[in-house]
Amino acid sequence: MINNKEFEIRQEIANDYPAVYALNSAAFGRKDEARLTDRLRSSDAFIPELSLVATIDNKVVGYILFTKINIVEGNITVSGLALAPMAVSPDMQKQGIGSQLIYSGLDKAKMLGYKSVVVLGHESYYPRFGFVPTTKWGIKAPFNVPTNVFMGLELVEDGLKGITGTVIFAKEFGDI
Ligand SMILES: CC(C)(COP(=O)(O)OP(=O)(O)OC[C@H]1O[C@@H](n2cnc3c(N)ncnc32)[C@H](O)[C@@H]1OP(=O)(O)O)[C@@H](O)C(=O)NCCC(=O)NCCS
Repeated sequence: MINNKEFEIRQEIANDYPAVYALNSAAFGRKDEARLTDRLRSSDAFIPELSLVATIDNKVVGYILFTKINIVEGNITVSGLALAPMAVSPDMQKQGIGSQLIYSGLDKAKMLGYKSVVVLGHESYYPRFGFVPTTKWGIKAPFNVPTNVFMGLELVEDGLKGITGTVIFAKEFGDI
């Protein structure tokens, strides 16, 4: 458990599910990511320790999820993580909650032995945490996106060295 001045970050529990649903809906302005999160919880790709909430006075104000992915090249498969979705309550944004969720998640992922994380997201946000376009390693998204918004991060030195291929997300992402 990580305590900050105003908020706390901890593993999500079942009691949080309705609040996380409401938070994702509010932050994204649609229900797709909220529904996706519900589906991912019953997926093989789900890692309970990497489903984190930020709370203030026990109220959920932030959420982040990392799920298992594979990077596939021919008959070679390397496992890793994807960061998605993440959300901070619209009235609580730009106060560092999102950043702390990312740092906490990356620390936890490292402790669990994962070597890399990919993210599809804002090219001006994720680089501050060390993410760079996956073109650096010859790793591709499974869909057409501008190369600068599909980013990767090594959790350990050379965690992606020599790894090329296409990222295969949990099948639940395909439903969004
Ligand atoms: C993205 C999000 C989780 C960031 O949470 P947060 O608590 O506001 O993040 P932080 O306070 O740590 O960082 C805020 C910084 O992120 C930047 N940021 C937020 N949304 C951004 C966006 N869409 N594009 C680029 N930068 C963005 C802010 O401009 C701010 O930059 P600054 O530090 O230079 O002022 C939050 O804005 C959110 O829930 N957005 C809606 C859902 C979403 O887009 N999720 C991410 C999907 S990839």
